[in-house]
Amino acid sequence: ERNNTMKEWTREERYKQISDYSDNYLDELAKRVAQSPFRQNYHIQPNTGLLNDPNGFTYFDGKWHLFYQWFPMGAVHGLKHWYHLTSTDLVQWKEEGVALLPDTAYDSHGVYSGSGFVKDGQLHVMYTGNVRTEKWERVPNQIVARMEADGSFTKFLPPAIAGNPEGYTDHVRDPKVWEQHGIYYTVIGAQRSDETGTILMYRSKDALEWELMGEVDAGLPDFGYMWECPDLFEIDGKTVLLFSPQGIEPEGDRYHNIFQTGYVIADDFRMDELKLEHDGFQELDAGFDFYATQTAESPDGRRILTAWMGLPDVAYPTDSEDWAHCLTLPRELSLKDGKLIQQPVRELVALRKEQALSESGLLSEAKHFERSGANCYELKLDVAFPASADHAPVTLDLCEDATNDKRFRITLDPTTKKITIDRSRCGIPFAEDFGTTRTLTVEQMDAVKLQIFVDTSSIEIFVNDGEGTFTSRVFPQAGETCLSLAAGSTIDYSLELWEFA
Ligand code: FRU
Repeated sequence: ERNNTMKEWTREERYKQISDYSDNYLDELAKRVAQSPFRQNYHIQPNTGLLNDPNGFTYFDGKWHLFYQWFPMGAVHGLKHWYHLTSTDLVQWKEEGVALLPDTAYDSHGVYSGSGFVKDGQLHVMYTGNVRTEKWERVPNQIVARMEADGSFTKFLPPAIAGNPEGYTDHVRDPKVWEQHGIYYTVIGAQRSDETGTILMYRSKDALEWELMGEVDAGLPDFGYMWECPDLFEIDGKTVLLFSPQGIEPEGDRYHNIFQTGYVIADDFRMDELKLEHDGFQELDAGFDFYATQTAESPDGRRILTAWMGLPDVAYPTDSEDWAHCLTLPRELSLKDGKLIQQPVRELVALRKEQALSESGLLSEAKHFERSGANCYELKLDVAFPASADHAPVTLDLCEDATNDKRFRITLDPTTKKITIDRSRCGIPFAEDFGTTRTLTVEQMDAVKLQIFVDTSSIEIFVNDGEGTFTSRVFPQAGETCLSLAAGSTIDYSLELWEFA
């Protein structure tokens, strides 16, 4: 029997310092969390407490550095720290421990999100220091810090940008820094005084003194009440602005999560205009749990993305176990037909152990694949619908129990060209208020390719080499590890599965 009653956290408890707890307390908490049946095998997750946004993602000195927003003590958005990990291959991550603590007057109520950049041969970060006054009024500070040789950080204070500029509320956060022709630039999520979301841009010669250039004009003057986690970069000579707007209403199959993450693509972006002309905002992921993306450039010129596989203000089944959330797998971005394409980074093939399934041929009924191994594998499914025939939908069930009562269902409907995921009967139900299905329409459905990464408590689906993705948390229980593929009419298919454990 699961204890699903959540502890009520008082404000005082949420803002207690880590130093107010004994080491023993955290060790005991970590031991308890390690017992959870929902711990991931190959995703970045917190040892205790709550993880949210990826931060400071940078390749520096032969290694990837990645940090995440972390509240150590439980599954609530309390006092935020940055937790640090490094990797040489984007596959195996080494835990480096807590890197930035909310220990100054300028970040006393949280070291909020920010980014990394290299300056003078040293890794630097810029983040939002969150302060609450005695009256609980919010003061956002943008702070630069430098990583020293021993891995500790020196914060440059007072903040590079203190408070909010005229015309904007106290919701100003998440600086993303880059360098271009010897000048540093940053984009920062903001809310105008009229409570609409936008992005501010600053520049600096030394990354210490910053000058406000103005708003990035993304041609969306009234699109939600706050934009978080902006990111601006070039791919194939085009400029991509990626951000997480809050306050967008559902529209057809789109925008069903509590908050969104998406992008616009512009042919050019001039520093004297800060204007992006584009064909509209596009949602980046079609799944249930995807937010607050951050990208970094690899030494070989790839643009790599990771995101929080969770959302604010949504309750998850592990909350009662005092931990929550993980990051998505790292993905390579590219552009195709006016869309951002996401593919799992090629390095991830290193996770493949034994190939457990390799099947192909014609199928016109249901085929069940027994699995007793953990939900920790990669699956590739190619389906072709023969020309000039009437086609019925195809379903692929994952995390299935012996009776096909419990399962995560993926439906390919060649008539409507829609792909639908359904988690209503998968493991422990949660977040049902936001709906239990998500749907993506693809360009054509003569043939479909799915590449799927299943971990203990997540499913990431890449459709047609990254034309679309579905990223979701799931909480299947013991024995819910089987698969079924069912065709209502004849299909030509191939299915391959690699165990990761
Ligand atoms: C996004 C966010 C950011 C903020 C951080 C605080 O999830 O709200 O805007 O910096 O989380 O943890």
